[in-house]
Amino acid sequence: MDKIIVEGGHPLNGSIEIAGAKNACLTLMPAALLTDEPLTLTNVPRLSDIATMTQLLESLGSEVASLKDGQVVTIATENITSDTADYEIVRKMRASNLVLGPMLARNGKAILSLPGGCAIGARPMDIHLSGLEAMGAVMDLRDGYIHADAPNGLHGAEFELHFPSVGATENLMMAATLASGVTVLKNAAKEPEIVDLATCLRAMGADISGDGTEIITITGVARLHGATHRVVCDRIELGTYMIAPVIAGGSVELLGGRRELLEAFCEKLEQAGAVIEDTDAGLRVTRREGRIQPVDIKTEVHPGFPTDLQAQMMALLAFADGSSVLEETIFENRFMHAPELLRMGAQIDVQGGTATVSGVTELKGARVMATDLRASVSLILAGLAASGETTVARVYHLDRGYEQLVRKLSACGAVIRREAD
Ligand code: UD1
Repeated sequence: MDKIIVEGGHPLNGSIEIAGAKNACLTLMPAALLTDEPLTLTNVPRLSDIATMTQLLESLGSEVASLKDGQVVTIATENITSDTADYEIVRKMRASNLVLGPMLARNGKAILSLPGGCAIGARPMDIHLSGLEAMGAVMDLRDGYIHADAPNGLHGAEFELHFPSVGATENLMMAATLASGVTVLKNAAKEPEIVDLATCLRAMGADISGDGTEIITITGVARLHGATHRVVCDRIELGTYMIAPVIAGGSVELLGGRRELLEAFCEKLEQAGAVIEDTDAGLRVTRREGRIQPVDIKTEVHPGFPTDLQAQMMALLAFADGSSVLEETIFENRFMHAPELLRMGAQIDVQGGTATVSGVTELKGARVMATDLRASVSLILAGLAASGETTVARVYHLDRGYEQLVRKLSACGAVIRREAD
């Protein structure tokens, strides 16, 4: 297992290219199962989660070809040759559950191991399953696998999600593209990745409207065809690297970044101590003079503050001139980075879903452990500003969501290296 070693105290100056969105890609790739023609995705990030989804799709009968060092991926599924998304692949990544809707819609049958993924909460699948049931699927749970059948095909339905789950909205949207009749999803997720999926599905011939709002209407069509689609920019990678010059000092341009993907986050970052400017190529973030200011944060569904940036923001607020209250409302167990930050000298009190961060003037480098994807990168950010060396173990979490992190940060002046443990 590799580790990353960061020497703190070096300001960052330069530019970082933001990759295509991991979370968008993980739903766009299964969308290829909806057609027997090739789907080509460009701006694909080079991440282990993408390799896992590739492996899953290949196990179902897809042929996946990569070009341009993995940034262009073509998926062709003439026939789905297996009904089963196997435990050995699915346990590695929760987003594997996004093959369920497309498989069911195309073949009338799917067997899915209940997914694993980041250990940040219970993460049930009840909304995915009840939505598909409303569309005519019959579900049975046996041996840890969901057996879903729709022998006569899926039909359109009006379905209200009890929570605007991103994954459930994606699964149901994909399933509805080939269902007979009209599906109306109420209380749907509004994340930019949903809009990106709908854009791709429309390019494949689907009839979808309302994406980006809480009511999405899908009129089923007889078949979808191939298409080429450019993956939207990764707003979580963007937000993470926007924090980097604020925590370490300096000024960094984020190439491809767009403020409207992260409005609520940008407001909080500005309050904490960032100057954010639009540039021709993206966004520039510069640290203001003086101490970081405390900011209260509550994670919410889009367009609120994203849960996937809460850990990184906590690392920043650990240095604030005062106390910040961070409330996590999306996942119940998402403060696993707090005990690791404490080992570096942060002052954080976690009570249930609320963390109170009392800022300190200095964090000290330490050996810390990555526990999930976003927690891991928060420790890297803390290490950029801590005194001495911070060693982050279990780097495989980072490889799931941050391509070439060491290269991107080094190019801006960070002193950071990766070593085999
Ligand atoms: C996606 C993102 C993840 C992000 C999350 C919230 C991908 C691959 N992952 O995850 O990075 O943190 O959105 O923005 O896109 N829930 C239920 N029942 C369900 C489904 C979800 O109760 O059937 C609950 C979950 O337990 C959780 C909340 O809804 O508390 C949000 O989950 P959801 O929006 O589904 O997240 P994911 O799609 O898994």
